[in-house]
Amino acid sequence: MSQSENRYLVTGAMGCLGAWTLYHLFHQGKYAVSFDLSADRARLNLLLSTREQAALTFVQGDLTAADSLLETLRTHRITHIIHLAALQVPFCRASPVRGAQVNVVGTVNVFEAARVAGIRHLAYASSIAVYGPAGDYPPGPIRQDAPFAPRTLYGVYKVADEGIARVYWQDHQLSSTALRPYTIYGVGRDQGLTAGPTQAILAAAAGRPFHISFGGVMQFQLASDAALQFITAAEQAAPGALVFNLGGPPTTVAALAHMLQQLRPQAQVTVGEAHLPFPEAFDDTALRQHATTLYETPLADGIAQTLAHFERHLSTGLLHVQSQE
Ligand SMILES: NC(=O)c1ccc[n+]([C@@H]2O[C@H](COP(=O)([O-])OP(=O)(O)OC[C@H]3O[C@@H](n4cnc5c(N)ncnc54)[C@H](O)[C@@H]3O)[C@@H](O)[C@H]2O)c1
Repeated sequence: MSQSENRYLVTGAMGCLGAWTLYHLFHQGKYAVSFDLSADRARLNLLLSTREQAALTFVQGDLTAADSLLETLRTHRITHIIHLAALQVPFCRASPVRGAQVNVVGTVNVFEAARVAGIRHLAYASSIAVYGPAGDYPPGPIRQDAPFAPRTLYGVYKVADEGIARVYWQDHQLSSTALRPYTIYGVGRDQGLTAGPTQAILAAAAGRPFHISFGGVMQFQLASDAALQFITAAEQAAPGALVFNLGGPPTTVAALAHMLQQLRPQAQVTVGEAHLPFPEAFDDTALRQHATTLYETPLADGIAQTLAHFERHLSTGLLHVQSQE
């Protein structure tokens, strides 16, 4: 099948990574269908003009309703799935049952609909939240095959998703590639446990002070890069239920704030003492060995791009910023 015959379904396409995935599929000239419960295009509007969005297809649907998903795959003759829809950590904490319905049942629905529709491979988002805090592991970057020890329901649901993928490979030879991001940053990253660094960039663009509530060391991944990696993962079918940590240089949140202040000396960013319940770094050797292409914009460049993007949209009035509460 030539690339031009590929037809992509992106679940959670109104979210941060989903909007960037649609952005890249559009620019690669590919046929893309958005499947999201939400019809709010606020994030996508920051990336594509209304005219550009006219080339995309939008389905408003609930992942927890299996029929609607299968119908969408069939109607649009989908060949590739990038499954990103999920409730993030705070939403799973606030609504555990709904979190399980979307993040676990929703994932079963995606795999089952893919199987019934005859799709042989898909890509989906897991998370480094499948692992436990640093104290659970020996020092150094966490190995790909380190034991799971999630401390959040969200992480438990992602462990379940990886198990679902393994069984669909074992029972039906439906292969999959999961990527486990750490802290995604960039335009559109406005919610979730680790949205603070991006909110700080937006505040700096608007000339407002911002306090990032957590500090410590982590790996930052630009939303645009992660979206490209998900597209590659969907296209590079390989046998098995593969799962890869996304990597990147371990960096302190304070260093990110410093980079921001170097770009905009008037930026007022402070960083909290609290640490997230995750280790500092995850080993991405396996992804480096597997992926045909790795997308890894240096952090300083990613911050500069994000800042410029936010400033452009603040000046056109497409984006507004509220003071931090
Ligand atoms: N953002 C990060 O730092 C990060 C880190 C690790 C893993 N991930 C994973 O990457 C994926 C994308 O993250 P994001 O930051 O773009 O999330 P997001 O919160 O910005 O977007 C999630 C999208 O899923 C949609 N959705 C929720 N319930 C749905 C349902 N029942 N049916 C259809 N759509 C539904 C929402 O409307 C939203 O548009 C998620 O699976 C997330 O768990 C993200």
